[in-house]
Amino acid sequence: MEDNTKMEKVISLAKRRGFIYQGSDIYGGLAGTWDYGPLGVALKNIVKNLWWKKFVLDREDMYGIDAAILMNGRVWEASGHVDGFSDPLVEDKKTHKRYRVDHLLEDNGISDADKLSLEEMDQVIKEKGIKSPDGNELGTPKNFNMMFQTRVGASEDSSAVSYLRPETAQGIFVNFKNIIDSFHPKLPFGIAQIGKAFRNEITPRDFIFRVRELEQMEVEYFIKEVDWEKYFEEWRQVMWQWVDLIGLNKEKVHELDVANRAHYSKKTIDFEYDYPFGRKELYGLAYRTDYDLKKHAEYSKIDLSYLDEASKEKFVPHVIEPSLGVDRTVLAILDNAYTEDEMGGEKRVFLKFKPSVAPIKVAVSPLLKNKPELVEKARGVYKELKKEIPEIMWDDNGNIGKRYRRQDEIGTPFCVTVDFDTLTDDTVTVRDRDTGKQERVKTVDLISRIKNAILG
Ligand code: GAP
Repeated sequence: MEDNTKMEKVISLAKRRGFIYQGSDIYGGLAGTWDYGPLGVALKNIVKNLWWKKFVLDREDMYGIDAAILMNGRVWEASGHVDGFSDPLVEDKKTHKRYRVDHLLEDNGISDADKLSLEEMDQVIKEKGIKSPDGNELGTPKNFNMMFQTRVGASEDSSAVSYLRPETAQGIFVNFKNIIDSFHPKLPFGIAQIGKAFRNEITPRDFIFRVRELEQMEVEYFIKEVDWEKYFEEWRQVMWQWVDLIGLNKEKVHELDVANRAHYSKKTIDFEYDYPFGRKELYGLAYRTDYDLKKHAEYSKIDLSYLDEASKEKFVPHVIEPSLGVDRTVLAILDNAYTEDEMGGEKRVFLKFKPSVAPIKVAVSPLLKNKPELVEKARGVYKELKKEIPEIMWDDNGNIGKRYRRQDEIGTPFCVTVDFDTLTDDTVTVRDRDTGKQERVKTVDLISRIKNAILG
């Protein structure tokens, strides 16, 4: 069921507490762009670092790269994006505002609208008398290419035309030969990349779910064709491990065997998440066959085949692609963590992050900020902790109750308070975000106590 109220609450908290702001906010914003504030960028970096560790560093078969966003325009001709990377668009005949047809149809109660052809969409619009959101007649649906076109350098001719990449994947395919030549990897092996991608979405919406400037974490895993089912299944399992790693409730994540696949795919599973606005794509896992390498070989005239040293067989590898959006991950984590309960007879809102993804792991406070001896002691505790746990916050604003609520709202798992007892017995209060329970812990045990909880 759709829950607009929850979405509004998540957006409002994200803005109020410095996670995510509207892009170009003071100029009225720019649709489909969002700026990550201090806590948002911390959360995003945690996601990216966890991904890099799990998908690259913890494996022996993975090569990380960071390719340029701007690429030779021919890349996008070869990949099929110039001709095929489009969404169906329809225009309001009066206001000339443009809408994504499948979204408009879905908003009018037509299910699976994305599976219809342009002609079928047109027919449905006519048959059902569907109007624009402003109540006006609609034109004929047509395809709209979503790539942002640009020119590279001062030249005006067509060879200067390029695009902001709409997926990071192509940066990987064009580096396939470089990696083979530098590292001579044996199949199967993967190339991984995290980076920005740009899509001129017709109707960006649902906060950071559908944006025009996004970030992707992608792997192209090169295999022999005969092995595709085996590795597809292996990566499917890795995706579920990842869902667990970032603390999402697995019951809110669902697999969908995609019927209406991208032009390059022979099988795609979408991992969908139950967002407040409905069950929508979180990640994709695709079997891209040898489509991309073959196309790049054809367009670049460079041999992109692989030589199996043992069998002396030469062939173009096939590819399994787990593709994960950073922004949709952040949104799922925020939604999953958003919790309302009652504590001490008062309503409270808190982000129940898994401690390992919480942007701030621990906050340190003196019980009273006008007692220099408490402040000095608390500063010492803060300094010691910061050496081992850099995601720490000094918080001496307001009274202790308010501090706890504020830290709850940004999902800080632990609050450490230095009080008068600390001065005599060197213990502090550690307060747990989820239960509100407080425990006295010796300062010498503090680092290991918090670190264990974060890792566990
Ligand atoms: N290389 C394959 C590829 O790009 P995709 O399904 O178009 O496939 C992969 O995108 C992932 O990128 C999606 O599952 C989603 O997480 C993210 N993504 C795609 N478009 C997005 C958008 N407009 N806003 C936010 N995230 C997006």
